[in-house]
Amino acid sequence: MPLLACASASAPRWAPIAASFGDRHLSALPLPPHASPSAHGVGALWLLCVEIAARRRRGERAGGDGLPLAWSAATGYALEGAWDAESQALFSLFKPLLDRQGGDARWVVGQLGQSLDGCIATHNGDSFFVNGPEGLVHVHRLRALCDAVIVGAGTACLDNPQLTTRRAAGPNPTRVVIDPDLRVPAGARVFTDGQAPTLLVCDPEHAQRAAARLGGDRVIAIARSSALQGQMPLGEVVAALHARGLDLLFVEGGGVTVSQFVRQGCLDRLHLLVAPVMIGAGHPGLQVRRADAMREALRPPARTFALGTDLLWDLDLRAALA
Ligand SMILES: NC(=O)c1ccc[n+]([C@@H]2O[C@H](COP(=O)([O-])OP(=O)(O)OC[C@H]3O[C@@H](n4cnc5c(N)ncnc54)[C@H](OP(=O)(O)O)[C@@H]3O)[C@@H](O)[C@H]2O)c1
Repeated sequence: MPLLACASASAPRWAPIAASFGDRHLSALPLPPHASPSAHGVGALWLLCVEIAARRRRGERAGGDGLPLAWSAATGYALEGAWDAESQALFSLFKPLLDRQGGDARWVVGQLGQSLDGCIATHNGDSFFVNGPEGLVHVHRLRALCDAVIVGAGTACLDNPQLTTRRAAGPNPTRVVIDPDLRVPAGARVFTDGQAPTLLVCDPEHAQRAAARLGGDRVIAIARSSALQGQMPLGEVVAALHARGLDLLFVEGGGVTVSQFVRQGCLDRLHLLVAPVMIGAGHPGLQVRRADAMREALRPPARTFALGTDLLWDLDLRAALA
């Protein structure tokens, strides 16, 4: 099983192109040349991932131009040159995201960091921290590779998160809060810290109030659906974000929100980060449709990766639902 480290591994000694990212972390970090005698490490690999994402956002054609990468429409990106085992594992983990290019870029990945007994926080909402440092870095990396990060009102209220990329080099994504009844305080950090744009998804009956608070261009009004037991149709949320040019979406939590994305068939991929801890009667993680028989249970194609002492399950939900 591959082991993924969180620290930069290789000593930089190549021509810096990172300034083109316009990102505060990246200016100090150079990318590897096309061919190098020694194996490159995780630090260089991560920069490569960020550069692929940046080129996708700029609408550039997929390809390895100037980078130690090959591209084919059939098989996506492949690493070229010598890379150490950790870098190859990290690339393999992110490849399904990195391969989303051009007309294929619209895609939704979710995550949940959970205990062995399936909880994502204690009963009173404390989730700092369920996962180890490598798991936290992974979440920040997902933020950096995606165009928008989505959380539910529960997380926004309980955690008051920033949803930025403090633990990984890379740009901050647009932040999206699903808060049908505007219960998240106006002073929450995502609305006030100015670190990245924040969009608010709410019920149309509160749209005017939300627009007065944030500006009309920051509000997406979507009605709950009686056919979905009063939940918002997340396909409409996803479509509204795609329409704003936000292609790769990351649903970070919490359990209710990620579960709704799964139940409504709106998640392509789920990263479930299982930590060796037992919480007991805490906030539940995944709550999916009940199966009466095992043959009816959702059993997605899966891969595992070790993240420190956490185990990451990479679940291909789109394949399971096909
Ligand atoms: N370990 C992790 O990976 C992780 C990640 C994130 C958060 N957390 C923890 O998780 C806890 C919060 O999670 P949670 O499951 O209670 O809440 P949550 O998923 O953050 O938020 C759920 C709420 O968001 C709104 N919402 C989301 N999807 C909706 C939809 N399709 N239609 C209508 N409304 C929708 C609803 O708001 P209303 O209730 O206002 O209708 C819903 O009750 C916190 O303790 C946080 O620390 C853990």
